[in-house]
Amino acid sequence: MTTKTPRAYWKPLAIGAPEPYRELPVKLERMIHFVPPHNEKVRAKLPDLAKTVDIVLGNLEDAIPADQKEQARKGFIEMAKTVDFGNAQLWTRINCLNSPWVLDDIGEIVAEVGDKLDVIMLPKVEGPWDIHYMDQLLAQLEARHGLTRPILVHAILETAEGVKNVEAIATASPRMHGMSLGPADLAASRGMKTTRVGGGHPDYGVLADAKGDAPRAFVQQDLWHYTVGKMVDACLSAGIKPFYGPFGDFSDPAACEAQFRNAFLMGCVGAWSLHPSQVEIAKRVFSPEPEEVKFAVRILEAMPDGTGAVMIDGKMQDDATWKQAKVIVDLAKQVAAGDPERAVLYGFTA
Ligand code: GLV
Ligand code: MG
Repeated sequence: MTTKTPRAYWKPLAIGAPEPYRELPVKLERMIHFVPPHNEKVRAKLPDLAKTVDIVLGNLEDAIPADQKEQARKGFIEMAKTVDFGNAQLWTRINCLNSPWVLDDIGEIVAEVGDKLDVIMLPKVEGPWDIHYMDQLLAQLEARHGLTRPILVHAILETAEGVKNVEAIATASPRMHGMSLGPADLAASRGMKTTRVGGGHPDYGVLADAKGDAPRAFVQQDLWHYTVGKMVDACLSAGIKPFYGPFGDFSDPAACEAQFRNAFLMGCVGAWSLHPSQVEIAKRVFSPEPEEVKFAVRILEAMPDGTGAVMIDGKMQDDATWKQAKVIVDLAKQVAAGDPERAVLYGFTA
């Protein structure tokens, strides 16, 4: 495949557009909280909500009825203009690129509130061509409306074609923020035989070998392991961020927590919250465990220059565990900076 030269990669795609970020802004992104912007009651609660979440996302795509698409867009512009989001980021999920609404979603939102918007989430991304289109169009609009910082793009990984092309999507542009697994659309696109939004399935598992007439254990497996692994490698190798997406069964917080935790352990930085009850779950899961943080701090302290080998509580530590410990401590510091309660739990008080 022909790619751009290194120098061209960092040039704005329109005269007058802001330069792409070389490094992504460092921000806590444990949950992307979805709100339906056409709902006035929901909009009225946003100032309080914004204090409790890392990201507020105004959803314009699936779950918004076709006859409310315009109201949702208008509602989003209204909320972006009027609400003080404080430390929370403001994102929107626009309609997909072949829909009748997307051109106005992008055009009107960037024109009216482009300076307030951190990230556009793009659904049903199939390949790098979708990102290139967004990249060029956003640069033109940023230039036209005099924006001084680039709007980032976050892809949803939710088609078989997208998963096949995930590495090319991750590296398509310096505008890429990261991506989220979209298990509902992905299941349909792949022909999976499920009717759920994320999570496991009771029939997907491994049956223990038969031993005479003894009962055989059946252990449920994670349906999303392969895709999350593929997404994490594509994202981290490209310096962008992977997220678990939605978990649709609000009546099963334990299963939501287990699914989010698998994603966290595998490298994801956050997940979507579709219901207020999932905000706390995401906060708990995507902030490292205090005991884990304290152990990681001990590793860093035992190996001040990050090299060599030491034993801590009977466990071998070396340069590689030092790097793992640093991932955890760096995240804990980031969490502690915005969360005084967790700062105390981590032992990071001044
Ligand atoms: C999210 O958009 C999904 O399809 O799971
Ligand atoms: Mg979807």
